[in-house]
Amino acid sequence: MSINREQLLAQYNQVRRATEAICAPLEYDDHLAQPIEFVSPPKWHLGHTTWFFEAFILNAYLPGYVAYDPHFQWVFNSYYEAVGDRVQRPKRATITRPTLVQVRAYRAAVDALIPVALRTVSDALLPELAERLTLGLHHEEQHQELLCMDITYILRCSPSRPAYAVDGPTPGICSSHPTAPLLVRGGVHQIGDASDAFAFDNERPEHEVLVRDVKIHCAPVTNREYLAFVDAGGYQKHNLWLSDGWAHVLNEEWEAPLYWEKTGDGWHEFTLRGLHPLELDAPVCHVSYYEADAFAQWCGKRLPTEAEWETAVRQHGTGGRGVQGIGETWEWTSSAYHPYPGFKPFAGALAEYNGKFMVNQMVLRGGCCASPKEHVRITYRNFFQPEMRWQFSGIRLAEDAT
Ligand SMILES: [Fe+2]
Repeated sequence: MSINREQLLAQYNQVRRATEAICAPLEYDDHLAQPIEFVSPPKWHLGHTTWFFEAFILNAYLPGYVAYDPHFQWVFNSYYEAVGDRVQRPKRATITRPTLVQVRAYRAAVDALIPVALRTVSDALLPELAERLTLGLHHEEQHQELLCMDITYILRCSPSRPAYAVDGPTPGICSSHPTAPLLVRGGVHQIGDASDAFAFDNERPEHEVLVRDVKIHCAPVTNREYLAFVDAGGYQKHNLWLSDGWAHVLNEEWEAPLYWEKTGDGWHEFTLRGLHPLELDAPVCHVSYYEADAFAQWCGKRLPTEAEWETAVRQHGTGGRGVQGIGETWEWTSSAYHPYPGFKPFAGALAEYNGKFMVNQMVLRGGCCASPKEHVRITYRNFFQPEMRWQFSGIRLAEDAT
């Protein structure tokens, strides 16, 4: 397949501008906060996504390239052992220099050189550069969603509960709710990516899985349904919870999803649009795996495995009478995050992109309201530790067919 250098450059510019557009509504101070160790300051995201292109494109494909600032490799490397030492994640906000202004200048400098690398690289090296650049763009898009997650957490810490934007991304209401769940026909089915389009290494290869007949619910669980669980004392009944989950309920005093707040006039939810009365018909969001599992137990149902989830979408599609609500909240599956049989990590230092995280996490499927459009695809595997809930995570129920 021939690679169009100018088309690739246009994609690069589009993705880079989109990141800046996400930060545009922020105040200066919002860029610097790290209220909890797993939240990164937006300033760091702006630098780190730039560092990715410097480390993996400019260093490799621009002859004679000299590092923009030798300190930046240490400040903005996230987790690549092969690249060298780095600031540990909980300490990211301790770095006040480079300043936000300097980080923006760094972005502009790298943005000025990427076109040079792209236009001057030899035809022989172009495919390799294009592959890395494309990965860099999908990486930056992942950080766009992370920015939305982190911005929500950061703004929620302020007592005025400021809105990010009146039209900030929030999970949309599923318009039609067919009552009967969808029957997924069991058998040996294929899951995973086999296309020529971009996919992360963890989505490949396509492979066979054995699926039993299963029923998958058409729509994600709503706030109304989840509120019934809360009102029924779901957070007080240890028998509904996995042991580790119950420990979190007790230690962190969980009594509702992360951004629910009970005020004098009932439950409210903080979103990127500010604090508003709970939208009962919207999908429940910002629940941990433990909460998703406990809710399913309370309903006498269960979460789907990722093989069941993907098979359901392949058999029924996503529109009309198919699997609905995909792309509003990520959906927890009951599958542990492991490599697919035949998994081959990306080459070189980029082997660290996904493979080394394949333990102690659960897979989520589907995409969310803050995901860039092309990330909402049926083979995409998101993953988080089961106690995490600052991501846009919700619930879809499954039940045995027999
Ligand atoms: Fe990253």
